[in-house]
Amino acid sequence: MNDMTPTSAERAEKLEGMGCRRKRVEDIRFVQGKGNYVDDIKLPGMLYGDFTRSPHAHARVKKIDTAKAAALPGVVAVLTAETLKTVNLAWMPTLAGDVQMVLADGKVLFQNQEVAFVIANDRYVAADAADLVEVEYEALPCNVDPFKAMTEGAPMIREDLKDKTEGAHGKRKHYNHIFNWQAGNKTETDAAFAKADVTIKELIHYPRVHPCPLETCQCVASFDKIKGELTLYGTFQAPHVIRTVGSLISKIPEHKIHVIAPDIGGGFGNKVGAYSGYICAIVASIVTGKPVKWVEDRIENLSTTAFARDFHMLTEIAATKDGKVTGLRCYTIADHGAFDACANATKWPAGLFSIITGSYDFPAAHCSVDGVYTNKAPGGVAYRCSFRVTEAAYCIERAMDIMAQKLGLDPAEFRMKNLIRREQFPYTSAMGWQYDSGDYHVALTKAMESVGYKQLRAEQKQKQDAFRRGEMRELMGIGVAFFTEIVGAGPSRACDILGIAMFDSAEIRIHPTGTGICRLGTKSQGQGHETTYAQIIATELGLPADNITVEEGNTDTAPYGLGTYGSRSTPVSGAATAMACRKIKAKAQMIAAYMLEVHDDDLEWDVDRFRVKGNPERFKTMTELAWAAYHEVPPGMEPGLEAINYYDPPNFTYPFGAYICVADIDVDTGETKIRRFYALDDCGTRINPMIIEGQIHGGLTEAFGIAMGQEIHYDEDGNVTTASLMDYFLPTAVETPHWETDWTTTPSPHHPIGAKGVGESPNVGGVPCFSNAVNDAFAFLGSTNIAMPHDHWRTWTAAEKLGLHG
Ligand code: CDP
Repeated sequence: MNDMTPTSAERAEKLEGMGCRRKRVEDIRFVQGKGNYVDDIKLPGMLYGDFTRSPHAHARVKKIDTAKAAALPGVVAVLTAETLKTVNLAWMPTLAGDVQMVLADGKVLFQNQEVAFVIANDRYVAADAADLVEVEYEALPCNVDPFKAMTEGAPMIREDLKDKTEGAHGKRKHYNHIFNWQAGNKTETDAAFAKADVTIKELIHYPRVHPCPLETCQCVASFDKIKGELTLYGTFQAPHVIRTVGSLISKIPEHKIHVIAPDIGGGFGNKVGAYSGYICAIVASIVTGKPVKWVEDRIENLSTTAFARDFHMLTEIAATKDGKVTGLRCYTIADHGAFDACANATKWPAGLFSIITGSYDFPAAHCSVDGVYTNKAPGGVAYRCSFRVTEAAYCIERAMDIMAQKLGLDPAEFRMKNLIRREQFPYTSAMGWQYDSGDYHVALTKAMESVGYKQLRAEQKQKQDAFRRGEMRELMGIGVAFFTEIVGAGPSRACDILGIAMFDSAEIRIHPTGTGICRLGTKSQGQGHETTYAQIIATELGLPADNITVEEGNTDTAPYGLGTYGSRSTPVSGAATAMACRKIKAKAQMIAAYMLEVHDDDLEWDVDRFRVKGNPERFKTMTELAWAAYHEVPPGMEPGLEAINYYDPPNFTYPFGAYICVADIDVDTGETKIRRFYALDDCGTRINPMIIEGQIHGGLTEAFGIAMGQEIHYDEDGNVTTASLMDYFLPTAVETPHWETDWTTTPSPHHPIGAKGVGESPNVGGVPCFSNAVNDAFAFLGSTNIAMPHDHWRTWTAAEKLGLHG
């Protein structure tokens, strides 16, 4: 080797593989306005659809008169439930085993429910005509209170289920009951409470919120009558699932459906399920013979497509007097709205909520969840969350603070006493989850040292004393949260969607010149997949990341996958990518052995090449091997260099983190300033630290929005009072605090590259951290649980209730 020969480290750096802060390749088109979103798609002769929606939350639909709408010049057709019945599509199945009206069939069950679909040759004409559809309603008493849903005489929401005592998840106790689901050991938990020194019990509410992606839900359906084929462009987080469900309900053979998800402007769970707009656009295209576009507006998005959370969690913790937790009990009422359209794996009607013991070593735990119908929009999606993990993390992190307060312990000290210890991993929780790896005490210690926790507490004490003396009107809160996520749905033994196991896939083709393409069943909505999957391949195959194209979102070309949500892309498809690379590498090794005339075992891998052990001057680079794969393979070997992997993960991955927030609250105005927010995340092996930071900044900003102001609120009559961004808090750069990020690295032992997911973590850990900070500010005055969202008005009200306004 001469001095000019690059070292292994220099060659590795050039690849821009795992660990590199590689710039996002997709941004080249995004920052130039060259993205291709659904609304950019314009097909010849395309028509536009729009909905007539119900002003009532609960009403009988007596009559629908479409004559005036149909007479408006430019209107091509108007669909109602009666039209849809002719093709058996008035109702559609939901992911949760329920059925849902596509267009109002006899009744409307929530405000803004879809009643008629108008198709016109212009978007504005469609909107005008939607207003001309005349609907005669008979208003019915409505119920938006989940606690009243199962009381005697509560309005019956689902008359179609009146006589059904069995639902998709077992017995129904009441006509508004959907399911009861339990996990853990009730007897052991009750016994732990019976002998506990100290207990707490608190109703913890995670309000109804909405993911609110910047791009709303939309699609273009184009049915080719001659070929009998449907092409559906849409904002789909899970394109293959849409194809399968689309085929099952439309009876169009699956191979004749082409689903394409182009660029997507944020999903956050909102774009997982199927909506009336998709079905109506498809039917409209079949009826008219033309492509039909449907694009939601902001009000429609906020008030009708999938909400998140709405869990009321009555939570109890049992502990010894010296602060060791001994039991956790939680009874939850889950408000699912008018149809159970939760996006969950089939077996889990309350998602992965039983991760509720969090990061703590609870010897016994039990949870029970009742899902109920109310006159609200359906949904229940994982808004930057892995199937209800966010609710669970919020619940346990608030409850741990409340117990620390009762015990007179510092919240961080109380957590330290109860965190699962490093030597306990792999750790099986009282709920049966097997946590793969963690080093929790190191993470929390690092977080506390980084923010100067002791000094912050000393400063807080001084300020509390000054407040008591009447010398200042500001309170200081320190929020601590330690969360454990469960991401990577999932192992097929635990997770399926409509019977399809939740594996995922990657297909890699390396071309003769050493470049290649990787196609996957996941779909980025802003997470930077085109950048990061290529980095996995760069490290695994020794080819520059720039030489790899990553393609997702086309069901004709990508192998079958279950899509992107619940931070599953890295744990599942990231693993599939690495495994496909390893198949390619194994073949390349055989080709190298043949070319170098040695046995396979005499070769060793060095960054981008196979070299002969003990004779490093003799080698074949991956680029050379790619060329050879197309003209010089060993006798009997198939030419070509490609592989596909369908990865069924052996377990979930369990990322975790320690977050600390410092808030300053003006008790006279309720104004809350976030002085500091420190987030330490451990997502195992880090593929792209810059993208991880971006994910954390985004997730924390959403967590800030949720904790400090977001709520989809209904008045007593079922009117959505937060259906626009004037009323629904979406933080901008002006309100958003500065984020301090940090990390530890504890690889997952079962993932091929040791990576865990990260996208949801900041939301899971961030929300309780903000909420704990606000609550901590008032705790020394005897306050235990001020409910989210912590907007200025509610915080002012909390101060008022504590008698702080004199
Ligand atoms: O499924 P989703 O893409 O939403 O979530 P994720 O798997 O947590 O990945 C989000 C982004 O962070 C992707 O671009 C990943 O490649 C990146 N990531 C990373 O660089 N290293 C990790 N250990 C986890 C995620």
